[in-house]
Amino acid sequence: MAIVEVRQVSRFFLSGEARIKALDNVDLDIEKGEFTAMVGPSGSGKTTLLNQIGGLDHPDTGTITIEGRSITDLDRKSLTELRLWKIGFVFQEYNLIPVLSAQENVEYVMMLQRVSAKERQLRAKQALAEVGLASMEHRRPMELSGGQQQRVAVARAIVSRPAIVLADEPTANLDSKTGASLLDLMHQLNDQHRITFLFSTHDPMVMERANRVVHLKDGRIAREERKPAMGNLSVSVNSDAESGTA
Ligand SMILES: Nc1ncnc2c1ncn2[C@@H]1O[C@H](COP(=O)(O)OP(=O)(O)O)[C@@H](O)[C@H]1O
Ligand SMILES: [Mg+2]
Repeated sequence: MAIVEVRQVSRFFLSGEARIKALDNVDLDIEKGEFTAMVGPSGSGKTTLLNQIGGLDHPDTGTITIEGRSITDLDRKSLTELRLWKIGFVFQEYNLIPVLSAQENVEYVMMLQRVSAKERQLRAKQALAEVGLASMEHRRPMELSGGQQQRVAVARAIVSRPAIVLADEPTANLDSKTGASLLDLMHQLNDQHRITFLFSTHDPMVMERANRVVHLKDGRIAREERKPAMGNLSVSVNSDAESGTA
């Protein structure tokens, strides 16, 4: 069974008189342990698709299941619960809580999960160590660089070992070197713990690190590629036709 099954999902938006088809009958399966990049020009539907899978928005037609459970017909409360336990989110703007330390930001999810204080602390420390921030647990987001903040966001996303981590352009605000090292980190977590990642990107360097690349165009899946694992190799990008997309 796939971790995520997207079936015939469409999503429309009204923009003035126009009706925009942000997603047009999308079918997608994500298997456990996959490390998938979703690419495509701006406006091709990447964010909209991630939002449907993450239960942050509802499709107009079609169904989505997470670990076999339909999320498209869940009530609000059950959906919130499912999101809390099954899905980790990483956003372009990090979305950390500014008044909380790195440690407290990572603990926050576990507070909602009603994990005991002692275990929360232990697991948050472990997660921060895993992302290379062992010595920075007391710093607030403002006292961390962009790359470090995104590492905190990754620690927060993986701390409860969700079924899948969704990341919408996680490297968009990082310089290319920092972005590459963030991707290496995600890949390492994927290798070591078989955490499933689905992320969107414009960045050819980031794309290069994925094992599977799904190309979106005008709200449809235009094509996809699968590659053997690249591990942490710092490969030079052989820019193909896709690298010009913005
Ligand atoms: N809330 C919204 N209201 C109106 N149009 C939207 C909304 N969200 C997305 N769209 C439109 O849907 C299309 C897909 O957008 P999006 O998923 O953000 O693309 P991407 O993330 O690939 O840049 C675009 O044409 C965008 O303008
Ligand atoms: Mg987007």
